[in-house]
Amino acid sequence: MQILDPEKLPRHLAIIMDGNGRWAQERMLKRIVGHRKGVETVRTIVEESSRLGIKYLTLFAFSSENWLRPKTEVRALMALLKAYLAKETARMMTNNIRFAVIGDRADLPEDVNKAVTDAVTKTSQNDGMVLTLALSYGSRKEIIQAVAQLVDNVLAGTVTREEISEEIISAYLYTREIPDPDFLIRTSGEMRISNFLLWQIAYTELYFTEVNWPDFGKEEFHSALANYQARERRYGLISDQVRKRR
Ligand code: IPE
Ligand code: IPE
Ligand code: MG
Repeated sequence: MQILDPEKLPRHLAIIMDGNGRWAQERMLKRIVGHRKGVETVRTIVEESSRLGIKYLTLFAFSSENWLRPKTEVRALMALLKAYLAKETARMMTNNIRFAVIGDRADLPEDVNKAVTDAVTKTSQNDGMVLTLALSYGSRKEIIQAVAQLVDNVLAGTVTREEISEEIISAYLYTREIPDPDFLIRTSGEMRISNFLLWQIAYTELYFTEVNWPDFGKEEFHSALANYQARERRYGLISDQVRKRR
């Protein structure tokens, strides 16, 4: 496995976990089998991220667009989610992980919402890694609700026109308590963002791998992180300036 510099890990790692369905279909299995296998990968990557000392891990688990999938698949995914939360909360406690959710929770079935609330409450005092699941999440929706709330507050006089800034906008997003991602991984070979964290990834380093999520193991994970560590983040500056700053 690649040797990683513990000083240069992404503070916030975001992952678009994609390719469960194809993983299963390539094996003549039902798509849900791929999702189940995908949950095992979630376990591996959560544990490894926490062990490495990554502070924030955000996983795209279900998009606002995913509601339009066949009902049977949606139902199976919700059941899987609920089972994951029921089972993993204990492990989050052992690993000092704080659990959070971003997305439109109003759309989630009541039992899933309850499992989410339980996990968030139980783990709220943990101060290790923050594990955030994006559930029923769509970035444009998130921006719309932020703009709407901001307009309400401007009309109510609690925010002025002059105060509107990048910081203010960020403070109205679901991610208000999380720094912007440093690194974004997408599995399964698709090179798109699919409505994930559009505002937040302005300067995020992107990484795409052909490997489907159920096959994304520790080794793959370490190569992705090693790739990140070899990059120079310039934020519009030139290399010399960046090096002087360090
Ligand atoms: C990702 O795998 C999991 C979810 C979107 C819920 P997919 O289900 O999108 O798998 P593919 O892309 O069809 O292979
Ligand atoms: C993105 O994957 C959403 C999640 C990983 C939860 P999709 O499989 O829904 O994305 P598209 O449809 O291929 O863009
Ligand atoms: Mg997909």
